[in-house]
Order: sequence, then C-alpha cells, then structure tokens
Amino acid sequence: MKLASYISPKATKGQRSAIEGRGLFAVEEFSAGEIVAIKCGHIVDSRMRAEHAQVVGNSEIKIADEFHIAAMTPDEYEDVMLFLNHSCEPNVGVAGNIIFVAMRDIAAGEELTIDYAMFDDDNSRMTCHCGLPACRGIVTGQDWFEQFNFARVATLAVARAD
Ligand SMILES: C[S@@+](CC[C@H](N)C(=O)[O-])C[C@H]1O[C@@H](n2cnc3c(N)ncnc32)[C@H](O)[C@@H]1O
Ligand SMILES: [Zn+2]
Repeated sequence: MKLASYISPKATKGQRSAIEGRGLFAVEEFSAGEIVAIKCGHIVDSRMRAEHAQVVGNSEIKIADEFHIAAMTPDEYEDVMLFLNHSCEPNVGVAGNIIFVAMRDIAAGEELTIDYAMFDDDNSRMTCHCGLPACRGIVTGQDWFEQFNFARVATLAVARAD
C-alpha cells in the first residue's frame, strides 16, 4: 500500500496559497472538531532527519523529542505532504501528534492553517506572511515556550475538546 497522509474529502491540497507556496484548502464546510487531515510518513530520529534533509524537505513534523514523521524518498514526498501553512490566527489545531482538526467552523474556500507553535520545537525562524492582525512577524521553533503562545495553544486545545 502506498504511503500517503489522509486528507479529508472536504479539503484539497497543493493549490497556490496567498500565504506561501502551496496550501491546503477547504472545498466544503468543516464543523469545529472535524478531522481535516492525518499525517503519514516514516518515523525517523533527528539524526536520520538531518542526514536526509534534502529529501525530507517540508514533509516532516516533530512527534516527540528526537522523533519525526517524514517522507524518505522523493516519490513519497507529495503524498506525505499536508501543505498546511502557518497562520498566527489558525483555523486548524492538533488532536494528538498526527491528527489535525478544525478548531472552529470553516467555510468552503478558506485556506486551512495551523500555528506552527503547536508542534515546532527547534531553532527555526520564519518571517510570517499570514498577514493577519495577530501576526507575530517572526515565527520561531521556540514560540510554544513563550507564555503568550503557550497559554493560547492551551486555550485552543481546550476549545477543540469542547
Ligand atoms: C509544511 S510547508 C507548508 C507548505 C508550503 N507552502 C509548500 O508549498 O511546500 C512549511 C513551509 O511553508 C512555508 N510557510 C508556511 N507558512 C508560512 C507563513 N505563514 N509565512 C511564510 N512562509 C510560510 C515555510 O517555508 C515553511 O517552512
Ligand atoms: Zn503570522
């Protein structure tokens, strides 16, 4: 069976995004709490991830200290990718490590976005193009640690569980 992330039939991935590159978009309405996508890939440690960085590219998410899920060959890349862009005012959250859910009702046509602070824990630094009033400007792999974001992520997680 082919390695592929699950994308809800209510979403489509890979179209051009106004935020950056390609994105993930709702094609039908989502209700809060509905599953948007489930990440698939090889479980690799940080050393393997670094050794294969060229192939892994953007397909990786961190699932635990020293562990990641990622594509490991170029032909797996497209199917493993979720194309979930970051937004400082996201409409998607996490339910566990690999399950992504709508945090609120989402209309057809909206780009599906997540705050990378929900899973990034590294030394990355990204100039954010979400363009929203709450934009942090620079998004880093340590944003989760900031009191503001930690409280916000916790609030979002609780909202999702309701
Ligand atoms: C998992 S990929 C998301 C899909 C990506 N747009 C693509 O076409 O491959 C993550 C990368 O997308 C870009 N990206 C995502 N959200 C962004 C944002 N809000 N501002 C700027 N770049 C962003 C960054 O290059 C980031 O490393
Ligand atoms: Zn932003």
